[in-house]
Amino acid sequence: MILKSLVGILILLISLCECKKAHCRHKVRKFPEGFLFGTSTAAYQVEGAWDADGKTENIWDHLTHNNPCMIMDCTNGDVAGDSYHNYKRDVEMMRELGLDYYRFSLSWTRILPTSFPDHINEAGVQYYNNLIDEMLKYNIEPMVTLYHWDLPQRLQDLGGWANPNVIEWYADYARVAFGLFGDRVKYWITINEPREICYQGYGADTKAPAVNFKGVGEYLCAKNLLLAHAKAYHIYDEEFRPKYKGSIFISLSGQFYEPESEEYVQAAYESNQFEWAIYAHPIFTETGGFPPVVKDKVAHKSAEQGFFRSRLPEFTPEEVEYIKGSSDFYGLNHYTTYLVYRNESAVGRYDVPSFYDDLGNEHYQPDEWEQGANGFPKVVPWGFYKLLTQIRNDYNNPPMIITENGFSSFGGLNDDDRISYLRQYIDAMLDAMDEGSDIRAYTVWSLMDNFEWMRGYSVRFGLYEVDYESPERTRTPRKSAFMYKEMLRTRSLDWHYETDTMTMTIDDGH
Ligand SMILES: *[C@@H]1O[C@H](CO)[C@@H](O)[C@H](O)[C@H]1NC(C)=O
Repeated sequence: MILKSLVGILILLISLCECKKAHCRHKVRKFPEGFLFGTSTAAYQVEGAWDADGKTENIWDHLTHNNPCMIMDCTNGDVAGDSYHNYKRDVEMMRELGLDYYRFSLSWTRILPTSFPDHINEAGVQYYNNLIDEMLKYNIEPMVTLYHWDLPQRLQDLGGWANPNVIEWYADYARVAFGLFGDRVKYWITINEPREICYQGYGADTKAPAVNFKGVGEYLCAKNLLLAHAKAYHIYDEEFRPKYKGSIFISLSGQFYEPESEEYVQAAYESNQFEWAIYAHPIFTETGGFPPVVKDKVAHKSAEQGFFRSRLPEFTPEEVEYIKGSSDFYGLNHYTTYLVYRNESAVGRYDVPSFYDDLGNEHYQPDEWEQGANGFPKVVPWGFYKLLTQIRNDYNNPPMIITENGFSSFGGLNDDDRISYLRQYIDAMLDAMDEGSDIRAYTVWSLMDNFEWMRGYSVRFGLYEVDYESPERTRTPRKSAFMYKEMLRTRSLDWHYETDTMTMTIDDGH
């Protein structure tokens, strides 16, 4: 007996020692009191009803209709998950999971078909009212993204995010949305993933509107977008916050760039500055403005290339002040990590001028890193931990909301690889929180399968599978949905939990 308990104590001691390590895989970890959980989607990816009830064309309608096979499987979001007609089922899924909040986006042209506030489309407003009211009935908070990539095509005809007038166009739309929904929406996200909007949409052709004006378009967009964001922030802060008491912030994508070896520490630092700090530095530092290393490198290259001024436009001192501090949270979308090096093999690899020529690095992911069926995202939880640590250190520990994190598969209900990814990343997030990171909430991408931009429907990110062959777009919970539900119910991460059913129940009243 004594021997048995001694052995027991010994085993306990050994496991406690192991659990001191950063990634203890076998301990049940509790989330702090008040920590919130959600899932995320975006209008174009799930709503469908692309021209229903007065909605007009946006840049994704335009791209997919005019160049269908720029999308891997030549599909589009015309019907998608048809959430426009399925919002009750969507809310039922949120109840099944026991979500605290649901992050979704508004379609600009569904609310303002002319792009401007001269005509408000009642049917579009009704759809969002129905969705919001149905959620609130069950105590699920709406977290609303104003802009998740679907610019009115008419505004794109005028240059879109490269035209400085977009600051007012966007601010007008934001003001309309605050007025329509602000009485019930307490979490507002101004803009989702500036990097993907500006670099992929204007400096490349890997997202709509595929302008591909390298080395110029992405920087014009960056400046205008940050000013538009700040304008919406100030409108809310001054005119709506006093009566509605909500919060408003931006969601930045941030993949992590790790030096391949010691000699590339500076190179990796610069990759992180170019790729995401270009949007974070103006908002979250005390000095504001674009990161010094980005300003220097682009100015230097521009002069060398014969430009009369830097291709990265400057902010006036007033604009620097206007943008600084314009976000209540640091919203972070994170998926994966890359290794960085810089040597002669990078020279001459990129178009001149271009963003990657300005940066001058190479990045890649080793073949041996764990990956799912699709290869994106590769599973690198320590990169999430390092990124969170860097954000805590560089920006004086801002309050954070993880607004996206998730894993893609080719489909099927048995998604053990998604469960494994989510657990490892949530574990890494808890490590950062243990060391002081002020993270308040975590959001899985995605509630359900959806139109994954250039990958169409070929990859699946949902906790719920969507059957695109069925007219109702039937949604079925995957195994990961049961894992997430249990995590939310127990408010803890348990590596050993296995669901013994694939049948969902609803236990409202969390
Ligand atoms: C540059 O570095 C990469 C990664 O370490 C290496 O594979 C490549 O051979 C190097 N090229 C040159 C020209 O040194």
